[in-house]
Amino acid sequence: MKPARVAQGINPLRDEEDKRLPRIAGPCGLVLFGVTGDLARKKLMPAIYDLANRGLLPPGFSLIGFARRDWADQDFGKVVYEAVREHARTPFREDVWRNLAEGFRFVPGTFDDPAAYELLAETAAELDANRGTGGNYAFYLSIPPKFFSTVCENLERSGLSKKPKNAWRRVVIEKPFGHDLKSARELNDVVESVFPPDSVFRIDHYLGKETVQNLLALRFANQIFEPIWNSNYVDHVQITMAEDIGVGGRAGYYDGIGAARDVIQNHLLQLLALTAMEQPNNFDPQALRVEKSKILSAVRLPKNLGSSTARGQYAAGWQGSEQVAGFLEEDGIPADSATETYAAIKVEIATRRWAGVPYYLRAGKRLGKRVTEVAVVFKRAPQMPFTENETEELGQNAVVIRVQPDEGITLRFGSKVPATTSMEVRDVTMDFGYGSSFAESSPEAYERLILDVLLGDPPLFPRHEEVELSWQILDPIEKYWAKHGQPEQYESGGWGPHSADEMMRHDGRTWRMP
Ligand code: BG6
Repeated sequence: MKPARVAQGINPLRDEEDKRLPRIAGPCGLVLFGVTGDLARKKLMPAIYDLANRGLLPPGFSLIGFARRDWADQDFGKVVYEAVREHARTPFREDVWRNLAEGFRFVPGTFDDPAAYELLAETAAELDANRGTGGNYAFYLSIPPKFFSTVCENLERSGLSKKPKNAWRRVVIEKPFGHDLKSARELNDVVESVFPPDSVFRIDHYLGKETVQNLLALRFANQIFEPIWNSNYVDHVQITMAEDIGVGGRAGYYDGIGAARDVIQNHLLQLLALTAMEQPNNFDPQALRVEKSKILSAVRLPKNLGSSTARGQYAAGWQGSEQVAGFLEEDGIPADSATETYAAIKVEIATRRWAGVPYYLRAGKRLGKRVTEVAVVFKRAPQMPFTENETEELGQNAVVIRVQPDEGITLRFGSKVPATTSMEVRDVTMDFGYGSSFAESSPEAYERLILDVLLGDPPLFPRHEEVELSWQILDPIEKYWAKHGQPEQYESGGWGPHSADEMMRHDGRTWRMP
């Protein structure tokens, strides 16, 4: 086995030899704001354990929890333990846990209490002295954005945001990055007045998914797809993010945000950018960002937003065998909420490659099943030497990138039905599945992203320009919706509101059934 390389804050993995070595973070610690939240419990703490279990964290790695709780270090340890036992991806190993837990500290305090930040600074200094964290800290703000400025200002005032010589300080922020272009800019001004742009890591966890990164491999490592990846051959593209869950305990976050701001503005537009962009010169952050930004700035909305968008709210009903409440009956949601739980939009991309090819994006909660996919649907063959009867069951060719949960790629094409005397042609599929092709299971997106933060490796983190471009796309739609009353109700466990089907029918198309 090759020796692992320890990073010292910059990405050292540049030459070909190095790229194959496991990447291990150098000495460092992570300060977690928002330890009591859902994200910390279900994703962040388990991902930290999984990284430790995979041997990718440095021996003295430390985790400081910060929250308004009267906890000692051990109480915090118990909270992390429960989160890890319930949600970690890799098996529980007592020795790994014990090592990791020695680096746990807890700082009680409110976000605006200067004394708490003093204590945080002392705690960090103690860890530097006793565990060898080297003065390197990432501050993870898993908190509502309205607190970003308070936390950043206090980190600055207490001197915590300032990197000591030969060390680094980074801030990690979770979406939503604002609720429109204006508020995103304001938020960014606050964060970047304290941390330099290179030290700000904005999480879009979709970019941490293996299947999303594989879009780049599929397109640019192969010869068979790229020649047909354009308006000469592609009829349209459908990007779907369907969830079977409702808003659950996240009403406070979700109400007023809705499906478009929650996931189209970030995850789905990033998927669109990766599907549509030109090949970057290399995968350096700058090169990748330039190509994605070119696409985002070329996105155009149709003139008639009434017929090219749709939105809905899930109604009470059955999700499989479970009876579920409607969105307006959920705890914490006002009975007259106009927040959409389903959104579909059509956009075009004004580039030579994509002129005239619509991209349809849809996202919704309480749909038929959990599935995220990008379907590139091709035009029909220009001339068919078959009768209409023979091709009755032949659809359009498609390449479907199955992002989750059944990770893989499907190729759909027509094939002659065996043992028929006529040339009956029907759709068949050819599948690549990660599960059957690779022995190693995919890490959780947060494992990859947290490790990248600690390594200081930024290609998978959107920069502020991309966030702004995405809001520029969404803002006119949100404004239009705000003037057009309530979203349409749709059945829980179904595939969204009628208006979404209508939107496709208007273009002579249908949604793919995932
Ligand atoms: C988050 C959204 O970004 O993604 C949630 O805020 C959503 O509303 C979640 O449930 C889905 O993530 P995943 O990885 O399960 O597709």
